[in-house]
Amino acid sequence: MFPGAWRVPPARGSRYGATELFLRTATLGPTLLALCACGPAAPTYYQQVKPILDSRCITCHTAGAIAPFALDSYPSAKARAQAAASATAAGLMPPWRAGAADVTYLYNPSLTDDQKATLAAWAKAGAPEGDKARPGADLPKLAGGIQRVDLTLAMQQPYAPTLSPDDYRCFPLVWPETTPVFVTGFDALPGVTAMVHHVALYLVPPDSAQAPFQWDAEDTAPGYSCFGGPFGNRPQEFAVNLLTAWIPGTQGVTFPRNGGVPVPPGATVVIQMHYNTAASLQPDQSSFQFQLASSVDRQMVYQPFLDPGWVAGQMNIPAGATNVPFLYQADPRDFFSLLGSTLDTTNGFNIEAVMFHMHKLGAEGQLWLERPDHTHVKVLDISNWDFHWQLQYSLETPVRFQPGDQLRLKCVFDNSPGRISTVKDVNWGEGSEDEMCVANILSSR
Ligand code: HEC
Repeated sequence: MFPGAWRVPPARGSRYGATELFLRTATLGPTLLALCACGPAAPTYYQQVKPILDSRCITCHTAGAIAPFALDSYPSAKARAQAAASATAAGLMPPWRAGAADVTYLYNPSLTDDQKATLAAWAKAGAPEGDKARPGADLPKLAGGIQRVDLTLAMQQPYAPTLSPDDYRCFPLVWPETTPVFVTGFDALPGVTAMVHHVALYLVPPDSAQAPFQWDAEDTAPGYSCFGGPFGNRPQEFAVNLLTAWIPGTQGVTFPRNGGVPVPPGATVVIQMHYNTAASLQPDQSSFQFQLASSVDRQMVYQPFLDPGWVAGQMNIPAGATNVPFLYQADPRDFFSLLGSTLDTTNGFNIEAVMFHMHKLGAEGQLWLERPDHTHVKVLDISNWDFHWQLQYSLETPVRFQPGDQLRLKCVFDNSPGRISTVKDVNWGEGSEDEMCVANILSSR
């Protein structure tokens, strides 16, 4: 309300008194505004845009971090205003590939529709700066992340990547704990922040614990080359479970619902580093922080779900084919116990989180739970798979697999020219030009 309103004299010849005129103008106000060509004020950088970028983008989009350009100042954000609007509208940024499902996820960094609209309107208006002296309120940072560091392990020696633009390198680490413990949180401290794109940790059980050190010794440089998993190009000879995975720009990993993954003494932890060398090529010596607990509310393990037939050679993806779906439906529990799972799933299990794994031909991936009455729960739906962003999707409320239920896994591949070095038939394998389709399911009893 404007304070001078009461002093407006009655218009000459008007049938209305001052008060009445004011009231009528006030009701007409919104209509008049809408008629006015100026429209609602465009969002400005300091008032509306900076809080969004600060809370959702700049952990990666700042000098020296993983993203190829900064978004942490007015000039840098203005230069990318249109790209930021497009990338967020398309759901490509911040990286999060889970589409709508029948579950909600923890730590989802996606922008709200209002926030996307703000970035779009700002770009359209020419990215106005606004008033630096009256900044918009900070938005809350994403929840989650490690709370305590109980153990720090580091790569023994620096490693200078040689493969470009992507070098996948595995480093076996001796697990120093002498009693059984649970890993309840993890964070990576990259040596060269701009280069470390992804870290995956695999747990090798004590009776196979020496093998990765042997592979390391056979390779003259530190560590050994490994693309799809801890075996590199070797055949998978023993069971290895995922321990956790990390991507830059996050505050680290915590397991949902006070859960943790057990690690026995004598195990080996193989750290798979994905170096993206497009931005930087320097020797890296990263270290890794673990949060540990001697007991947890829920013991959790990753159980891989896939069609054993695929591994046996039944995953032919013909050269040039653009849309090759593979579907598998089963009770996964036999397969879990075949792999020596430490979790008793006789009475069912909880799906706590899912990490999908495909290689470079991957296009789509879905995981459903099928009930005996044919109703289903869609747990994860990725329609724009990006090999570079293999995230863990943790469920706010776990989905319970009951005896009688089945899991249904679907992967769709695109083998069109340009996806890998040459156009050729592709089948299952660990190599960078082979394929895989795995749903790693973080499960609890
Ligand atoms: C987890 C790290 C991370 C976060 C968080 C992140 N980005 Fe990115 N962004 C990247 C990386 C890395 C690239 C380079 C392309 C790639 O690897 O996908 C990129 C690329 C982009 C691009 C170029 C897209 C293209 O098509 O090439 C834009 C625009 C962008 N980001 C905007 C944003 C905005 C806006 C936000 C926040 C709403 C954001 N990013 C959050 C890491 C991140």
